[in-house]
Amino acid sequence: MVRGRRSPGFELAGAVAVVTGASSGLGRRFADDLATAGAVVVGVARRRELLEEVEAHLRDRSAGSSTRVCDVSDTDAYCALLAEVERAFGRIDVLVNAAGIGEPRHEEDLSKYRRVMDTNYFAPVAGTLAVLPGMLARKRGVVVNVSSDSGRAPGPGEPAYGPSKAALSAFTESMAMRVAGTGVRLHVLYPGWVPTPMGAGAVEEGMPMPPRAVRRDESQVSKLLLSRLGDDKVDIDAAAVARLAPVARALFPRLYRRGVQAASGSAAATPAAR
Ligand SMILES: NC(=O)c1ccc[n+]([C@@H]2O[C@H](COP(=O)([O-])OP(=O)(O)OC[C@H]3O[C@@H](n4cnc5c(N)ncnc54)[C@H](OP(=O)(O)O)[C@@H]3O)[C@@H](O)[C@H]2O)c1
Repeated sequence: MVRGRRSPGFELAGAVAVVTGASSGLGRRFADDLATAGAVVVGVARRRELLEEVEAHLRDRSAGSSTRVCDVSDTDAYCALLAEVERAFGRIDVLVNAAGIGEPRHEEDLSKYRRVMDTNYFAPVAGTLAVLPGMLARKRGVVVNVSSDSGRAPGPGEPAYGPSKAALSAFTESMAMRVAGTGVRLHVLYPGWVPTPMGAGAVEEGMPMPPRAVRRDESQVSKLLLSRLGDDKVDIDAAAVARLAPVARALFPRLYRRGVQAASGSAAATPAAR
């Protein structure tokens, strides 16, 4: 059960929102729900054919919405896109960095680690840094960086994905403190486990099915996100129980490690998404 609180302050009607990862899964749902709430949404991803479908849905809900093809791991291209949206609309009020990739195969290859960091860490960092000056000047704006419980409690099957999300969480928390009191808010979203192509794909490839307590669907996570957008808390936890993992690790390190390894079973080298 996801409990949502109404955001006290963030008016979405007429807001300009950019959502990466809009072609699939969580990002697609966030884009849809933001448009339904009245925001003009620009959805970003690489797969043009999926974005065409998404754009039609978004326009039905909010007339000025659109989609753009961009590989966000090319941070120059991503920042140029954000600058273009800012020029066209005069502002970006909400940026949701949901684009992400899971654990690569052939982890022994360092370039695979770089690819994960480029997409899951440097892209959202570049996007955040690009929109912050405008938001700070207007004293209004929200950035949501989609992290993962793998970032705060990694299992054995996520040596590339886990660190990319840990770095993203730390960056976002640090920046959130830096801009506190300015009217601009940064959030780290922890979705729990969601059966999107990434989440379901990881299970198909051998990741054990996560416990019921952390399973969510796109609609639950999106509803929670919209209800919390712009409020005081930096972290938004779709599966609150996952917050206890770092506490258990600090208090009972050996027991914790044995538990994680047992839960991961033979999946030590399989892709992860949670
Ligand atoms: N599902 C879960 O259980 C879970 C749990 C925790 C966190 N998360 C995080 O939630 C976010 C969304 O994941 P999801 O589960 O919704 O997965 P998904 O269905 O596979 O969606 C991933 C999205 O990211 C986009 N993307 C990937 N690389 C990109 C790139 N270089 N440039 C632009 N877009 C890119 C994909 O679009 P294109 O392929 O069209 O580019 C797609 O729209 C990710 O950051 C993921 O790490 C997911």
